[in-house]
Amino acid sequence: MNIYNILALILLLIIIFLLRIKRHLTKAINEKFPDNLEPDWIVDTFQPWYFHLNKIIGLISVTLLGLILLGGYGFWYSFKIGNQQGYQPDQPIKFSHQQHAGLYKMDCRYCHSVAEKSKNASIPSPGTCMNCHRYVQATAKYNGSISPEIKKIYEATGWDPDSNKYLYAPKDLKWVRIHNLPDLAYFNHSQHVKVGKVQCQTCHGQIQTMKVVQQFSTLQMGWCIDCHRTSNVNVEGNKYYEEIHKRLKKGDKWTEEQNGGTECGKCHY
Ligand code: HEC
Ligand code: HEC
Ligand code: HEC
Ligand code: HEC
Ligand code: HEC
Repeated sequence: MNIYNILALILLLIIIFLLRIKRHLTKAINEKFPDNLEPDWIVDTFQPWYFHLNKIIGLISVTLLGLILLGGYGFWYSFKIGNQQGYQPDQPIKFSHQQHAGLYKMDCRYCHSVAEKSKNASIPSPGTCMNCHRYVQATAKYNGSISPEIKKIYEATGWDPDSNKYLYAPKDLKWVRIHNLPDLAYFNHSQHVKVGKVQCQTCHGQIQTMKVVQQFSTLQMGWCIDCHRTSNVNVEGNKYYEEIHKRLKKGDKWTEEQNGGTECGKCHY
């Protein structure tokens, strides 16, 4: 239930309440002046089915119908909001993974090296780009002048290509964030990449073919849990797991679920 559903419910109750008051007032008027009897719209309309039923049953069915409609709306709403699969925003520099990671076969870790060591994979600073783009200017494509996209890297670092020096104040470079879990969930890259040996592509798709990155997975809770149900923890060469392994004698598989990877506290603070 979010605030809008609750508001809708309150408004609905107020409407029902006002209609009831109106009906009572009409009835009172009709009793006082029986000569100019006005037809009661509600009674006339609903007489055949509503008022002939037991009043309680009638009320319950109408309430249930309302709740089902509201619930359906809430479900649809949270589904739409929660799922960002396919999200593919434009970026401030036309950086292409297809070119760098695909064509030039650069390792993902050259730019996202911290994925091995920390929670975040993080986006490289423009300084990393400068390792090459201080010299690589794609001038052949622009009749001898520097690529306008590469100039943006220079602006972001304060580089002056004429004097080959960092002369200016760096301008903020704001990449648009694509993958984003809500704050209530905890996800750790090194746990998956280093310990679990899960490929970047398993979760992010064939990034090295994308000119513009797009979100490949739903990133929803069911997606995490499904993989934990089926993926095997790497037990070889790990004393702790080998012990459990022997004790349980459950064959030669030890899934992340058996390891506790579907317990709420593992992913929620
Ligand atoms: C030359 C540096 C470089 C290399 C190599 C590189 N990336 Fe990136 N990556 C970036 C930059 C810069 C961004 C932010 C701009 C964008 O989204 O394109 C990014 C964005 C991403 C994102 C989206 C981040 C978000 O906002 O959610 C993912 C996922 C990603 N890279 C995965 C990979 C994978 C997987 C590989 C290897 C196949 C790889 N990258 C190789 C520089 C690089
Ligand atoms: C290992 C070297 C290397 C690194 C690091 C690198 N690039 Fe490149 N990049 C290249 C090469 C090579 C080209 C092709 C240049 C050409 O077409 O002549 C290129 C091309 C580009 C182009 C296309 C230019 C155009 O107009 O055609 C952009 C934009 C670009 N890189 C942005 C980036 C950004 C942003 C980063 C840092 C996140 C980065 N590159 C890191 C080597 C690199
Ligand atoms: C098990 C699934 C999984 C694997 C494997 C994985 N990622 Fe991610 N990645 C995610 C999720 C989930 C997020 C969103 C994290 C968040 O919002 O806290 C994310 C976010 C990112 C981001 C955005 C910035 C950040 O640090 O949150 C980049 C860049 C990225 N991943 C690159 C990579 C690279 C490169 C690899 C391989 C070395 C990789 N990922 C492996 C699931 C994965
Ligand atoms: C493609 C498969 C895959 C996906 C998707 C995936 N995980 Fe995992 N996860 C693993 C594996 C494999 C491990 C076990 C790593 C190891 O060997 O300890 C793991 C371990 C974990 C652990 C450590 C559990 C423990 O026992 O300490 C947490 C926490 C976790 N994952 C959170 C998440 C979250 C949150 C998501 C979704 C945003 C997610 N994972 C998505 C495969 C996955
Ligand atoms: C493997 C990781 C993982 C485990 C285990 C897990 N969750 Fe989640 N959960 C997530 C992620 C990621 C999200 C955020 C994405 C989403 O909303 O689906 C989430 C979202 C939620 C939400 C918010 C839903 C929403 O629509 O905002 C609730 C409530 C929740 N989890 C409860 C639980 C409970 C209760 C358990 C234990 C039975 C549990 N979770 C176990 C990963 C996990």
